[in-house]
Amino acid sequence: MVRHTRAIVDLGAIEANLRAISALVSSPRTPRPAPRIIAVVKANAYGHGASEVGLALERAGAAMLACADIEEGIVLRKAGVRIAILVFGALGISDLHGVFEHDLTPTISTPSAARALAMAAARWGQTPGTKASGVRPRTSDYTPDRGQTPATSATGVRPRSSGYTPLHCHLKIDTGMNRLGFRHDNLERTLPEIAASPHLAIDAVHTHFATADEPEHPAFAQQHKRFEQACETIAGLGIHPKWRHAANSAALLRDERVWYDFVRPGLLLYGVVPPPLSSTLTLRPALSLHSRIVHVKGMRPGEGTGYGLRTVVDRPTTIAVVPAGYADGLDRRLAGRGCMLVRGRRVPIVGSVCMDMTTVDVTGMEVSAGDEVVIVGEQGNESIGVREIAAAIGTIPYELLCRVGTRIERVYNPGS
Ligand SMILES: Cc1ncc(COP(=O)(O)O)c(C=O)c1O
Repeated sequence: MVRHTRAIVDLGAIEANLRAISALVSSPRTPRPAPRIIAVVKANAYGHGASEVGLALERAGAAMLACADIEEGIVLRKAGVRIAILVFGALGISDLHGVFEHDLTPTISTPSAARALAMAAARWGQTPGTKASGVRPRTSDYTPDRGQTPATSATGVRPRSSGYTPLHCHLKIDTGMNRLGFRHDNLERTLPEIAASPHLAIDAVHTHFATADEPEHPAFAQQHKRFEQACETIAGLGIHPKWRHAANSAALLRDERVWYDFVRPGLLLYGVVPPPLSSTLTLRPALSLHSRIVHVKGMRPGEGTGYGLRTVVDRPTTIAVVPAGYADGLDRRLAGRGCMLVRGRRVPIVGSVCMDMTTVDVTGMEVSAGDEVVIVGEQGNESIGVREIAAAIGTIPYELLCRVGTRIERVYNPGS
């Protein structure tokens, strides 16, 4: 390690968090069989490191991983992930080969994506088992699909006798978020073409809640209702997906009626409850951010520090310089609002958060260069969590985790 600022990622915590979620959704009240877990590892596993986290979640029993795009899926496969990888995001028309080469499960969320995938599947699916471009036959070797033979695909597709299998995918319904997905009130027009394609097997239908973390908002119940209705419409069109899923972290915490066959936690896996919700679930934050003081300096009354010299001190003040700045993901708004931990105490961030360094006020403390600084995490009896930091600057913990900079080394505490 060369740089002082580094992130420690506790893979054991991530595995334990997955098990805690699993236990919650397997509680005795749960309708059987209990939902399984699609572990969301998009955006480099919320900044924690997709490869290491993906493998840890696979070890801990996740049924599938989910990522944002084909590129993220390829990273997971190259790391050695064997379970199914669901791609949430919109797919390009021309870059679909990664889906087939790396055995990814795409989400179909627009008619044009469905068409493009069907055409690509027709091209790729006709030569099962060939080594051309390293393609593996799509026999759904991933865990959730083991019970399904190609002869019983969701759309009733009968594979060709040559052993041809359709592309397994999930269908996204827009029940009110107005982002990706087939509109819930237009399915009779948009879905028949997909249902008729011999090249697509719709394993699952899903939706995403826009207000799961706002318990008072009426849209959650409305989306739930629309999803139920959409599932009926889909069945009426002769499409019979094996699974349904809808719940992100907030939704799974607040309403077991939306657990369905899979839940899709992201933030909870990393040990953070989506604000403003609270939970009795025992979770361990997986990421902590550490640095070391590189310089300590005295300021006289009337002097300022940092760009703009906005913090002018009115008493003799001791400043410690921490080598982490906005290039590492620290938000500039933390100046005057946030704290770090030094020698087990909270010390305020003063001056300005610069690109590579930040200054904290350590007046009255015995500190010296080399002392450990905790930016996120615990030290002594004190702790600073991403929820607290997010609240201080008016953002969400998701953003802070995803922004932990690329030049920060992630040091992994091994899991099981
Ligand atoms: C479709 C979908 N499902 C689930 C999740 C996981 O969300 P969360 O991290 O709030 O659990 C996300 C993340 O944004 C998502 O886009």
